[in-house]
This record gives sequence, structure tokens and C-alpha cells, in this order.
Amino acid sequence: MKRVFSGIQPTGIIHIGNYLGAVKNWVALQEQYDSLFSVVDMHAITSSYFQVGSGTHIAEQLKESTKITAATLLACGVKNIFIQSQVPEHAYLMWIFSCISPMSWFQIMTQFKEKKSALNGASLGLFAYPALMAADILLYKAELVPVGDDQTQHLELARNVASRYNGLFGDFFPLPQPLYTTGTRIMSLRDATTKMSKSAKSEMSRVNLLDSPDEIRNKFIKAKTDSEGTVKYDLTRIEVANLFHILSEFTGKKPEMLEAEYRWGDSLAFKQTIAEVVIEKLRPIREKTEELMKGDNLFEDLEKGRQKAGELASLHIKEIKKTVGFTV
Ligand code: TYM
Repeated sequence: MKRVFSGIQPTGIIHIGNYLGAVKNWVALQEQYDSLFSVVDMHAITSSYFQVGSGTHIAEQLKESTKITAATLLACGVKNIFIQSQVPEHAYLMWIFSCISPMSWFQIMTQFKEKKSALNGASLGLFAYPALMAADILLYKAELVPVGDDQTQHLELARNVASRYNGLFGDFFPLPQPLYTTGTRIMSLRDATTKMSKSAKSEMSRVNLLDSPDEIRNKFIKAKTDSEGTVKYDLTRIEVANLFHILSEFTGKKPEMLEAEYRWGDSLAFKQTIAEVVIEKLRPIREKTEELMKGDNLFEDLEKGRQKAGELASLHIKEIKKTVGFTV
């Protein structure tokens, strides 16, 4: 059976972009494939400690976000979840990958360039981030990686790293392929030229899975749209098209079908409808997450995930150590 691997950073609360672009797909895929999913807390520190400030405060936040992210994933129905830093083989393999990959592969990463300019500099960890992501996937010899299309370049790099290793030592790693949901990237509600993101400054730009009904209503009603009065599905009207994509994903109806229903409605009524649909879809996830945050089930589930990941990781690392010439 093919193996699926994917990860999500615990840098904040999971938003509907992450959910529609990745997590919803994870839930469907785990029925058909041998799956593993990770809360990638080691990725989350690539920028947070770069700014000089209160390290302890950020550490506390990270611990809490990791727990909430894991609980939210479980509430969404994801199984086999583990926390990346609890399986140290990820970092071990990343080092080997760093030593077989040319720096030029990393210099062209657009996410690195964007983050570097936003931060006014970058840590070595941020630069090497795609090597850790390649290690996450290849440590389990995963063949399929359900992600949003913003991860395309990182996955290409993972395939290049796998090929380089196989070329040096003989076939060992499969070349992992991305699995996209619909290919629709969910954009910010404040600026539809940028993707909805956990790191954007404005809370109004994203709808989080744990937002209250009032917060969700407020965010949709204040979502930026153009000055044309009619609601029409037109990809050149990027803000309205983004709202159609969100409604389409949550209702399972094609945007063209939804347009027939809403074309002559005004944009406020359209936004109110979306808000109510999203509130009802997210309600069970929010309630289940709150319940999990209170009890011990969360830790039991995470321990099961860690054991499954840990067994595979140590098996593969043993073989890799022998291959690259480390004494076992
Ligand atoms: P992260 O934490 O930024 O996002 C998690 C997943 O959500 C998808 N996503 C989106 N999809 C649609 N619209 C959006 N606006 C949107 N924002 C985020 C992302 O594509 C991703 O699938 N590098 C990864 C984490 C990672 C990983 C891995 C993923 C680390 N190791 C190994 C797969 C395999 C990241 O930062 O995702």
C-alpha cells in the first residue's frame, strides 16, 4: 500500500485555507493509503527565534499552538498524528540531505526569498527548511504528499534530493508526488493577491477553524470586494472569485452553479450566506477541539502516532546510516 505523508506548522490556529487546501484531503486519503501526518514544530522555529526578543515567551506559545493544532487535526478526523520534534530522526536525515544537496537548489526557493525580505534577514534554518521538509517525507519513504499548491517548489526539491541520494547510493527512496485538492488556493480576505496565511498581520484576513460564529460573520461581511454591485463568478474579479471558491469548497457545488443561485443578489447577502454555511461546517470541529483540549485523549492519540512514526523512522535510519558509512 502506498504511503501518504503530510505536515502542518503549528504557527497559529489552522485556517480554512489549510483546511480546504490540505487537511480535508488528508481525511479522505487516510481511508485508502497508509498515512502519517505531523505537526511540524521544528519548522515553526525557523523564523520565530530569529528576531531577538523573549525566547521563553515564544517557547510557551509554541507548546500551546502545537497542542491546539494537534487537537484541531484530530477534531477534523485526521488519524495517525505525531509531533515532529518527538521523532529526532527527522533532524538526522536532514543533515545528510544538507550534505548531498547543492546550495543553489535552496537559493531559488521563492518562499525563502519572500520570508527573508519580510524578516529583514533569515536564519540558516529558514534557508535549509526545504531539506527538513524532504527529510520529513523521505524518512517514511512516502510516495504521496497532499499539500496546497504553494508547496510545489518544496516538493520538487524533495524529489531532487531523493534522486541525488539514489544516484549516489543506489535506489532507496521513492520520488514523492504532490496530491492537490482542487488546485484552488484560498486567498486572503483582505488582499486577494496573497494566499490566506497564518503569518499575515491582519486577523481579518483569515477565518480560523476555531473562530466563534460572530468572528466568522464579521470577517466575511468585512471581506474586501470590488465596487461592482452584482455578484458574478469571474476570475478577473479576484476577491469575489475567492469567496465563490470558499463557498464551493464548503458546499461541494461548482462555482458556476453557485453563480446561477447568487448572480443577482447583492454582495452583502452573498457574504452573509457564506458566513452561515461556514459557521455550520466549522461548528463540530470547534466543539470537538475544545473537548479534546480538556481531556487526556489527546496525549494518548499523539503517543500512538509517535510510536508508529518512530518505528518506521528508526528502521529506515538504520539502513541509511549503513549506506552513508556511519558506524551502526
Ligand atoms: P503550512 O503549515 O504553511 O500549511 C499546511 C498546509 O496547508 C496548505 N495551505 C493552503 N492551501 C490552500 N490555500 C491556502 N491559503 C493555504 N495555506 C496553506 C499548504 O499547502 C500545506 O499543505 N512546508 C509546509 C509544512 C511541511 C510539510 C512537510 C508538508 C513541513 N514538512 C512535509 C508536507 C510534507 C508548510 O509550511 O505548510
